Amino acid sequence: EDKSLPEPIRIRLNVVDPVKIKLGTADSKGTRVKVYGRVDHLRSQKDVIFVTLKDGKGLMQCVFTGQLIKTYAAMTLTLETSLEVRGELKSLPAGAHAPLDRELHADFFTVIGAAVGDKEAITNKVQADGDPQTLLDNRHLTLRGPTSSKVMKVRAAVEAAFMKTYAELDMTKVSPPAMVQTQVEGGSTLFEYNYYGEKAYLTQSSQLYLETCLAGLGDVYCIEKSFRAEKSLTRRHLSEYTHIEGELDFITFDDLLAHIEHLVCRVLEITLSDPETAKFIAELNPGFRPPSRPFRRMRYADAIAWLVEHDIPNEDGNPHAFGDDIAEAAERKMTDILNVPIFLTHFPADLKAFYMPRDKDDNRVTESVDVLMPNVGEILGGSMRIWDFDELMAGYKREGIDPEPYYWYTDQRRYGTSPHGGYGFGLERFLAWVCGRWTVRECCLYPRFAYRCRP
Ligand code: 4AD
Repeated sequence: EDKSLPEPIRIRLNVVDPVKIKLGTADSKGTRVKVYGRVDHLRSQKDVIFVTLKDGKGLMQCVFTGQLIKTYAAMTLTLETSLEVRGELKSLPAGAHAPLDRELHADFFTVIGAAVGDKEAITNKVQADGDPQTLLDNRHLTLRGPTSSKVMKVRAAVEAAFMKTYAELDMTKVSPPAMVQTQVEGGSTLFEYNYYGEKAYLTQSSQLYLETCLAGLGDVYCIEKSFRAEKSLTRRHLSEYTHIEGELDFITFDDLLAHIEHLVCRVLEITLSDPETAKFIAELNPGFRPPSRPFRRMRYADAIAWLVEHDIPNEDGNPHAFGDDIAEAAERKMTDILNVPIFLTHFPADLKAFYMPRDKDDNRVTESVDVLMPNVGEILGGSMRIWDFDELMAGYKREGIDPEPYYWYTDQRRYGTSPHGGYGFGLERFLAWVCGRWTVRECCLYPRFAYRCRP
C-alpha cells in the first residue's frame, strides 16, 4: 500500500453521503475509502478486472488495474471470496453502468478469506445437477444468492408491517410457550416428546394461550413458531413454521372477518410503501397487486356446489358432497380459477376443531373461516371460539379429548366468559403468495419438513 495516500474512511457498499464522500472524475480526486464484502461478480479484461462486491446491503463495482492485476491474489480471485478494498470513489465514464453510478478505483486490496472455486463451488455443483436435494443440503450457501436474500428481506419487512399494524390496532404482543401438553388442531400432527418423564408436545398453535390473555391484556397477538408432524410432502406444508396469530375479545364473526381483511390490506400497504421492499416484490413476483376490498365471501356449502358445477372431484375421484374435506388440489384449482382472495366460511363442525361454535342459523356448520389466495390456497385459518361452558365440554367429548389437561382453558368460561375469536396466518404461505414462490420452503431460512432437519 502506498502510505503517502490519504487515510481511507470505511463505508458500507450502499452508503451514499455526498458530504463525506466526494466522487472523483477523470481529472479530479475522489474520497479515498475502504470497503469490505464478498465477490459477487468478476469480469476480467486485458488491463482491468472488474470486481463487484456485495455485503448483504448493497453492491459496489471495484476496478483493479496496473500492478494490482499482476498479483497472484487477483489472478486467482474466486466468487464469494471476502475482501477489503481501498481506493478512490469515482463517477462512471459516460455510457457505463454500475450500482449507484459509481466505482471504486482500487489502489490496494487484501484477501480476507478465499472461497473454494472450480468444481467445489456451490454455483457449479447446483448448476451441474440442479437437484432440489442438493440445493437444500446447501441452503447455507444458496441463501447467499440474490433470490433467497430478497425473499428473506421481504419476510423481515412483512413481519415488521404486521407488528406496526398490530400497534395501530392497540393489540399487545405476547409470547406463549412452545412446549405444551394440549393439542389445538387434532392429534394426527402432534410432535410428541418426553418432558421430564411426562408426555408433552411441540405447540401446533398458540391460540388457546392467547385466549387466556384477553382478560388481562385485551386484544393480543403473537409471532411464534408452530410445529406440525405433517407426513405428506406438499409444497405448502412445513414441520416448523412461523405462525402469526391474533385474538380479539367481545366481537362477532363479522367483526372478525372485517379485522382480517383490514389486516391483510394494511400489512401490504405498509410493506409496499418501502421503495426497496416494493422493488424486491416486483422483481420476485412481477405484476403482484394488493387485493381489492371487499374480499369475496363464500360459504363452504357454496364452495361444494361450485366444485360440483366445475367438475372438480374430491380425493376419491367422486363429485364433492357436503361434509367432504376440500383437499389441497381442489382448493388450489378453485382459488386459481376465481383468482381473487376468498373468505371461505362456515365449515361443517365435523371437519373442524373442538373449540369452534356452531352457526346460529345452521347447526351443521361453524363460525369458521379460511382465507384462500391465488397460487397458494389457504394462508389463514380462524374462527369464533365456543364461549359457553357446556358447549365446550361437548366439543371435547365430540373430539375424544380428555378435558383434564385443558382445565386452564376451560376456566376462561368460568371466570367471566365472552364472545371472542381469532386466527392464524402461516407467514411462509403469506410470503409464497406475495413473492410468487413455488413453495413455502423458499420462504423460510432453513425449511423443516418430513425427513429434513438439516442444515
Ligand atoms: O388452520 P390452522 O390449523 O389454524 C390454527 O392453527 C388456529 N388454531 C389458528 C388460530 O386461530 N389462532 O393453521 C393456521 C394457518 C394455516 O392457514 C396455514 O397458513 C398455516 O397456519 N399452516 C401451515 N403452514 C405451513 N406448514 C404447515 N404444516 C401449516 N399448517 C398450518
